[in-house]
This record gives sequence, C-alpha cells and structure tokens, in this order.
Amino acid sequence: MVHSTSLCACLSLLTVLSCHSHVLPRLSFPIGSPGRSLTVFTNPDVYNTTTLLLSNDEGTLFVGARDAILSIDVSQTDNMTIKEKLDWSPSEKDLNDCSMKGKMKMDCHNFVRVLQELNSTHMYACGTFAFSPRCIYIDSKTFAMATIPNSKPEEGRGRCPYDPYQKNTAITVDGELYTGTVADYRGTRPVISRHLSEGSHVDLKLDDTLGWLEDPTFIRSTYAPSEEKVYFFFSETGKEYDFIEKFTVSRVAQVCTSDVGGQRTLQKRWTTFAKAQLLCQAAQELPYNILQDIVSLPPMEGASEDETLFYGIFSSQWRVNLGRSAVCAFSLKDIKNVFIGRYKVLNRDTLKWSTRVQEQMANPGECGLHNASDNTLRFVKDNFLADKSVAPVNQGLTIVSPDKSYSNIAAQRVRGARGRDYTLLYLLTESGYLHKAVILENGAHIIEEIQVFHQPQLVKNVLLSVSKGAVLIGSSEGVVSVPVSNCSYYWSCAECILARDPFCGWDPVMKVCTDITSHGHLVQDVDEGKVSEQCKNVTPRSRSGQPRTHSSEVVSVSLNEVVHLQCPEASHLAKRHWERPNSQLSPKIYIQPDNGSLSFVATPSTLGHYLCQAVENGYTQTLTVYHVKQKSNPTILAASPSRPQSTPAAETGNKNPISTPRWMIPKQPEPRPKPEDVDPSVTHKDSLAITIKSRNFTRLSGTNEENSRMIEPGGNLQQVNRPTYLQELVVVSVLLALCISALLTIAFNRFRHLCHSRTVPQTPPSHRDAEKGGSATPQERESLRGHSPRLEKRNGQAPNNGQAHNGKSPITLSNSMLNASNGHLPNTPI
Ligand SMILES: *[C@@H]1O[C@H](CO)[C@@H](O)[C@H](O)[C@H]1NC(C)=O
Ligand SMILES: *[C@@H]1O[C@H](CO)[C@@H](O)[C@H](O)[C@H]1NC(C)=O
Ligand SMILES: *[C@@H]1O[C@H](CO)[C@@H](O)[C@H](O)[C@H]1NC(C)=O
Ligand SMILES: *[C@@H]1O[C@H](CO)[C@@H](O)[C@H](O)[C@H]1NC(C)=O
Ligand SMILES: *[C@@H]1O[C@H](CO)[C@@H](O)[C@H](O)[C@H]1NC(C)=O
Ligand SMILES: *[C@@H]1O[C@H](CO)[C@@H](O)[C@H](O)[C@H]1NC(C)=O
Ligand SMILES: *[C@@H]1O[C@H](CO)[C@@H](O)[C@H](O)[C@H]1NC(C)=O
Repeated sequence: MVHSTSLCACLSLLTVLSCHSHVLPRLSFPIGSPGRSLTVFTNPDVYNTTTLLLSNDEGTLFVGARDAILSIDVSQTDNMTIKEKLDWSPSEKDLNDCSMKGKMKMDCHNFVRVLQELNSTHMYACGTFAFSPRCIYIDSKTFAMATIPNSKPEEGRGRCPYDPYQKNTAITVDGELYTGTVADYRGTRPVISRHLSEGSHVDLKLDDTLGWLEDPTFIRSTYAPSEEKVYFFFSETGKEYDFIEKFTVSRVAQVCTSDVGGQRTLQKRWTTFAKAQLLCQAAQELPYNILQDIVSLPPMEGASEDETLFYGIFSSQWRVNLGRSAVCAFSLKDIKNVFIGRYKVLNRDTLKWSTRVQEQMANPGECGLHNASDNTLRFVKDNFLADKSVAPVNQGLTIVSPDKSYSNIAAQRVRGARGRDYTLLYLLTESGYLHKAVILENGAHIIEEIQVFHQPQLVKNVLLSVSKGAVLIGSSEGVVSVPVSNCSYYWSCAECILARDPFCGWDPVMKVCTDITSHGHLVQDVDEGKVSEQCKNVTPRSRSGQPRTHSSEVVSVSLNEVVHLQCPEASHLAKRHWERPNSQLSPKIYIQPDNGSLSFVATPSTLGHYLCQAVENGYTQTLTVYHVKQKSNPTILAASPSRPQSTPAAETGNKNPISTPRWMIPKQPEPRPKPEDVDPSVTHKDSLAITIKSRNFTRLSGTNEENSRMIEPGGNLQQVNRPTYLQELVVVSVLLALCISALLTIAFNRFRHLCHSRTVPQTPPSHRDAEKGGSATPQERESLRGHSPRLEKRNGQAPNNGQAHNGKSPITLSNSMLNASNGHLPNTPI
C-alpha cells in the first residue's frame, strides 16, 4: 500500500517533469521588429503565392500562384523583384462549370500545385484549373507556355488534385514526373503514378485494387540516386492496427525508377511498390503519428548517401498532444534496412494483415521485378507492407514543440567557428512564426522565433536557399524572405555567446558579433554557451554600443509614492532579478511580478540604487541600474509619465482595493499640466521604462463602476491616511502570497490531471488531418495499451556494410503542396 502510493507519487512527479521538457525560443521577433527585418514580395495582381521552386543557381524563385506562375529575382534576398509573370487562368466557361458543380467561386481558380524543372529547356506545371486539373510545359528561356508538337492539351488528372486544399507531391527524375495525389473529383482515389515516360518506359500507376493506399495525405517525395528509387512520404489509415479504428500512421513508400510494370500481371502497374511505417515516438508515450512535413538533409561531404537524414514534423491524433508537434529524424540507411526485411501479408479476401506465413516467392521492394513470373508478381501484390517500422535515429524525438504546432520544415548543416558541424532546423508554426533551432547533444535549443505572417495560413511552403542565406516562405500573404541570422543584433560578447547561434561569433578585436564567414578569430560556444570562459577580457557593452559604465537612471520620487521599476527582457531564457547593494529585498516591502518589474513604496529606507540583473546559463549581467532618490521639493506632485499601455486601475466595483494587488500600479489620471513637476532627470530609454506611480492612494467610497470616474480630479475620493498604508501593504503582500500559493496548487493539480490523461486517445476536433484518427472506445484504448509493443516496434540494428555511394548527388525532396487534406473518405476501389 505504502509502496504503491509512493510509486504513484514518483510517477506523477516524473510525468510533471516530462511535461515540462519543452523548449522555449530564446528570442521573439514579432513582425516589424527592427532586429529581424523581413523582405516581403507582394504584388497587387498576384494571389496565393504558395508553390515554390528555386532555380539551380538559387538566383531565381519560381512561384506557382493563383492563375499565374511567376519568376522572381532572389539574387538579392533583401530585394525580391518580379522578372516574369505567366498568366494561366481558366476560361469563363471553365469557371461557370466549376460554380455549377457547387464549388465556391474563390476555389474555382487555377491554383498551381506542381512546378518542376523538367529538363534543361523546359519546366512543367500543373494546376487545379477550376476543379479540372491541367498541366503545361513552360519554355525556360522565354517563360512562356510551350507548345509541344503532336501533343494534346495536357490532362492533369493523377498529377494534380482537383481541390486546391488537397495535399499532393510531385518530383521529376530524368524527364519523368512522379506524383502522389488524388485522381478524382471527389478526392477518394489516391494514386502514386509516373507520367511523361517515353518508349518502353511506360507510364505507371498503382494497381486499382484495395489496400495499396488507405486514404492517404501526401506530403513529399524524394529521389535517391544511388538507389534509383523515388520515396514518397505520407500519412494514411493504418489498417494493420485493426484493434483501433482509424489509427493514422505515417509512411515512407518506394518505387524503382527502372520499373516498367509486369508483362501480364501488373501490366502498366508498379511492381516495386513497398511501404513502411515511420515511427515518431518516445519510449512509454503515445506516438506522434501524423506526418505534417518532411525534409531531407544531405550527408556530410564525402559521406555515403545512406547517411542522408529526413527530418519530419509529426502531430498526434491524441488530445494530450494536441497543438504540439514533435520532430523526428530518420536515416536513409534505416529506411533501406526496413525495406530489405520481412513483409506482412495482405489477405485480399478479408483485407486483413498478418505476419508472413506464405512461402517467400520474391523480395518485395526489390528493383528489377518487371520480368518476373506471374506467381512472383502475385506474391508482390500481397506483400508490400514492411513488417518492421522505421525508428527515428537515436531512438527518440529530436524536438517537442513548446505549445505550437509546426507545419513546415527546412534543414541545413552549418559549420561553426570551431569547425564543428551543427544541424539547424527552420520550423514554421501554424500561427506564423519561424523557429530556428540548433540540435545539440543534450537536446534542441531554439535560438529565435520570427513572425512571418499576420494571419494563420492554410496553404504555405518553406524553402531554404543555403547559398543566399535566406529562408523563403510562400503563403497567400506573399513570399517572405528571412535572413538566416542577424548577428549584429547581439550587442555584447555575452549576448553573442548566449545566443548559441552557429552563424554568429564574437570578434574580440572589432568588438562586434559577426557572421562566422567574416575573417579573423571568432569566439563561439554553441554547445555550452558558457560566457565566462569565452568573454574573459571583454568589457561589457550596452545595447547602444557604448561601453557599459553602469551610469544609473535617476528616478525622482516623493515619499510614500509607489515606485514601479521595469527590467527589460534580454531573453526568454533569462531569469530577471533585482538587487540592492548591501541589502536584501524583503518580500514584505518589494513586489516582484514574473515579468521582471519591481514595485515598492518610497520611504527613506527604500531610496537608493537598484540593479536589474538577468541570469542566463549561469551568467549574470546587469541590465539596468536605477537610482531612486527623493525629490528636492517633496510637497510638489511629480508628474507621472503617461504610459498608454499601463494596466487599468483597480478592479471595477471593488469596494476594498486592498484585496487586490493590482491597485498597486493603477493608471493615474493625466495630471493637470504642471511643467515644474516634471523631473528632467527621469529618462525613458529605448526598452527601459520607468513608471512612477502616485503617492496619493485613493479609496472609492461608493460602488462607483467607472475607473476613470474614480480617479477624476475632484471626484468622490477619500484619502487613506499614511500610517495605515504601510500596514495595508503588508496585508497585500500576505494576500498576494496566499493567492500565488493557491494558484500554484490549482495549476499543479491541473497539470497532473493533464499529464495523467496522456494515455487517453481522443478525437481532436475539427482538424481535417486529425479527423482521420477517430476516437477510441475504452476497449480500444485497452488494446492499444495491450498492443503497445506493436506501436513501439523498433528497427533491427542490422549493420549495413559496403554501401558507400560517394560522389552521388544529394537527395533533395521535391516541393510538396502543403495544406489540409479533406480526403477523409475511405479509399474505394475503382
Ligand atoms: C540586425 O539587428 C540590428 C540591431 O538591432 C538592426 O539595426 C538591423 O537592422 C538588423 N538587420 C536585419 C537585416 O534585420
Ligand atoms: C488564397 O488566398 C486567400 C487569401 O488571399 C485565402 O483565403 C485562400 O484560402 C487561399 N486559397 C488557397 C487555395 O490557398
Ligand atoms: C531592387 O532591385 C531593383 C532592380 O533590380 C532596383 O531597381 C531597385 O532599386 C532595388 N531596390 C532596392 C531597395 O534596393
Ligand atoms: C525537354 O522536354 C520537352 C518536352 O518533352 C522537349 O520538347 C524538349 O526537347 C526537351 N529538351 C531537351 C534538351 O531534352
Ligand atoms: C527483361 O525484360 C527486358 C525488357 O523489358 C528484356 O530486354 C530482358 O531481356 C529481360 N530479361 C530477362 C532476364 O528476361
Ligand atoms: C508587470 O506586471 C505588473 C503587475 O503584474 C504590471 O503592472 C506591469 O505593467 C508589468 N510590466 C510589464 C512590462 O508588462
Ligand atoms: C491627494 O489628493 C488630494 C485630492 O486629489 C489632494 O487634495 C491632496 O493634496 C493630495 N495629497 C498629496 C500628498 O499629494
């Protein structure tokens, strides 16, 4: 009994701890912040600039928009200018037909969803074309629609979705187009297919029988040159988990580019299609099962293509993880190993999966099966789901987002000042912030977050230009270019080191934080961020670039006035605290809210110097020094600087303002102008704000509801006499402490509750993707727990020898169309 109780206590403590293990961005830059300026491309005639493609030299950005395709000069990423615009609109008749089918007029445009470089002279584009998809060739030189001799208008069916909100993926390899999309108006016929094939290389698609794909949402595709395989990434219903209805799983599927279909069985159909589950799950926790986006990170120079990593963003169909995302990395080596391994077998009568009992006729997923016998191909038709799942590298989650859902990802490797390589991830949140995270040995560190659009966007796309050092983001608000870093924002050696940005290092000679590509010896510590070791002989400097002298800001006050000092926030990771030389700040006298401000009543003993300090990663820096001193003529009222954003006055209708600490910092009435009252020594600098709040505490005698009336000059005000005021302050402090402890208790209980509900699957409301993972009955939950080994399957660690393919071009993922899928109808046979 005692044991189980203490075990419970321990477990709940652990759960609480694990609930807290999310990373917070160190800095936040809302839109328009001078420290992180963006370049935005917009054009009054261009809408929905969401499909992005970079030219090989990264000097031109091609954009698939609404009824148009653009080419934009991005050779200067801080000045994006339009080069060409190709109009591609449906006719009046097409639009009418679309409206007749009951589609919204706004969705009846031509949304370009496939944009690929086909060969050295031509590009290829497909659009929804008023719910009747079409494709075109584009002459790369003239940027005009090309007419290909002897060819009909290109039908876009199977290459592009009908619905602009449906996700799809496409990639060109050797002039052939590989696509994953739905191939019908209703969005119920998903297909992975190959187009634009010539000669004996015929166009291929998936066989039209049940079970190949189960209501998938296509995310991306990629080509592995050394394997001669195209990989598709998507999520779908995991029919092998028949104990729980609508369990969504994430997949990687493969086809061989050499495939030409079978001779009798599987004619003009893939003979090399195989799929496997991608698992993004921490031990003992529910999986993050729904893939949102995935990107490839090429191996380090000289390394085998097997070392290619795929960084995926996953969300969860379970409510406990709602609004949160996880990032997992998978290696090409692990994916290959899973595809070489054993396969499950599909019983085509019952459509149930089992582990293999059949005699092995072939190695599914192997290239070169097109000449195989009918028997072999029939075997392949039932054995295309790998038995094992692809586990993430290091068997864990790379990042769990704090409380944001990530939708898009880009990745890059950066060599730091000390010659070490770091992986940087750019993660776009649903709310429109770009998180820049560096992956370190003991977890990820989010260097900064930058707001890139005002409104959450359904369709968006992220592309990284490594050579230009910019992240390009396409949405219906335009194309935004975000420089990968702004080292000059860090004004001191300490800030430069604490940022732990692999792009930035401190130049001890020039005394600036600068880009690591600049010359000279730079100081950097991405791994530890230890300031004391790196900035030994560096004089601290203030934000304005002046050597910090700690000259204090003078605050002139009258006795018994409430003084309210503000401490600027250096970073979200810093803890701010206040100090007085040679004196303790007793909580009986000083109120320190979490936001870093300090409030107290001016008395002879509280006059003096106050230091606002920030402690981050073991380093303490003084941000501001205030000198609070008594006014020369204490009988004259000081003008309180009017701060429009000040908190409103005491709670309305509150008869006893003492019960609420908020009245300590009430908005004061605009005092009648008294120029002689304004103390010129009170300065307002940049982000430092000093608010001096008044002296004359007033109490409302009636139940006056209007704050403004309450503080109107000549209003019904009653003076509180001074001796009792200090006692009241003590009462306030005690009440505040009580409130805080009560709040903490409630918060702790809520949190424990939240963590306890971790294992309960629930249907997240209204999210289209999440719809796929329905709710679970208690029995299903039980079976989920009971079958947890099946959910935690790990890839065998079979070493993969002698598969080096040096010198091959790196894998790049094709652009994918990113939006919510409404393909929630079950996959039906044709
Ligand atoms: C970088 O930060 C500095 C200092 O805040 C600012 O003046 C500058 O405009 C910023 N540059 C960019 C490109 O954001
Ligand atoms: C196109 O942009 C508008 C806003 O300008 C947005 O409401 C709409 O959802 C976008 N449509 C698509 C298909 O992206
Ligand atoms: C941007 O580039 C265009 C042409 O390349 C040029 O005319 C314009 O002056 C540039 N604008 C800025 C702000 O540099
Ligand atoms: C590129 O593809 C187009 C369309 O198939 C074709 O007409 C053209 O000849 C090709 N160009 C080259 C250089 O192969
Ligand atoms: C396989 O098929 C190709 C044509 O698709 C043919 O040229 C080749 O000889 C066949 N190989 C075998 C072993 O049958
Ligand atoms: C900090 O909190 C106090 C009370 O909680 C409030 O009066 C003050 O305005 C806040 N300061 C800032 C900078 O938000
Ligand atoms: C307090 O306010 C009242 C009424 O506004 C005023 O008459 C009085 O002089 C003030 N007292 C001080 C000490 O400022």
